[in-house]
Amino acid sequence: MADLTTSYLGLTLKNPVIAGSSTLTYSIENIKTFNEMNVGAIIIKSLFEEELASASENIDDFHPESYDYNLTGAAILYGSKPYLDFVTAAKKVSKAPVIASVNCTGEKWWTDFAKSIESAGADALEINLSYMSFDPEEDPRNIESKYFSTVEDVKSKVKIPVSVKIGHFFTNIPYMVKKLKESGADGVTLFNRYYRVGINLDKKEYMPANVYSSPEEAYSVLRWVAICSSLVDIEISASTGVHTSDIALQYIMAGAKTVQVVSKTYKNGIESIREIINGINFYMDKNNIHNITDIYNKIKVNNEVKRLERFQYMKIANNKLF
Ligand SMILES: Cc1cc2nc3c(=O)[nH]c(=O)nc-3n(C[C@H](O)[C@H](O)[C@H](O)COP(=O)(O)O)c2cc1C
Repeated sequence: MADLTTSYLGLTLKNPVIAGSSTLTYSIENIKTFNEMNVGAIIIKSLFEEELASASENIDDFHPESYDYNLTGAAILYGSKPYLDFVTAAKKVSKAPVIASVNCTGEKWWTDFAKSIESAGADALEINLSYMSFDPEEDPRNIESKYFSTVEDVKSKVKIPVSVKIGHFFTNIPYMVKKLKESGADGVTLFNRYYRVGINLDKKEYMPANVYSSPEEAYSVLRWVAICSSLVDIEISASTGVHTSDIALQYIMAGAKTVQVVSKTYKNGIESIREIINGINFYMDKNNIHNITDIYNKIKVNNEVKRLERFQYMKIANNKLF
């Protein structure tokens, strides 16, 4: 049996397959099941600042001190308690490392939440960073600098490792990854797959679309995992489209230290994550590979990476894509 042990964010993982952040990981029963499936680590659903903010708005109607709550933000901090209790409870039942996740809308709350999450016992923190702008006047550099200052702030306040999960809507992704590293990030997760909207033609209203990924979506992410792993010395966790062990293996060969699985477990059940771990084992045994580190970043050679820099199909007619 091959040795799948790997390290990620300074933690030792039994294997590189992580249960990614989603509502599925916000249940102690599910945390236990993910452990039974032998996952490498578990990332808990994000603590979203807006959820706490809207919870505090609800307090308004009932609470005589609601004005003070909002003024001090105490409601937001108080609202995070169930999440923090969950982190502590998850740590108690999980042999696999527990990574907490936080997503804030502004810049104000990151450090408070990060510190609380550290005190709650999380092994690491993934910050789910997405500052979207809907202002055509806003200079993108200002938006990018918020990413870097947030990472610097969080890193200055906590000792646990911090990874940064970003989306892929940037002009220069390797620049972002490099600057995130320089700002202190211990790892990056490529990429968050944002909530998509369609329109219900009968009701003529917006509706969620394609909530779950398809395996094909992995290939656009794979390009960036390969490029960034060859250009920046930082640990990368690949997220999007990990539905089979083949895709997981491709991500690892392209330079992902770990892979995160979410949609597959929604579609096929939590137990289905084991297929990916078993499939990696099977491939390694079949190819006489003893250690996962032997395939990690296996195809990181410069002329291969050059191929990834071509975005257009040039010779598809005769099956020569490059
Ligand atoms: C229902 C659902 C809930 C999610 N919740 C979170 C979350 O709380 N925090 C987060 O960082 N990502 C969240 N994600 C994004 C996933 O962690 C992951 O990045 C994305 O779904 C791509 O991976 P996949 O192709 O395996 O689904 C969620 C995804 C889904 C489908």
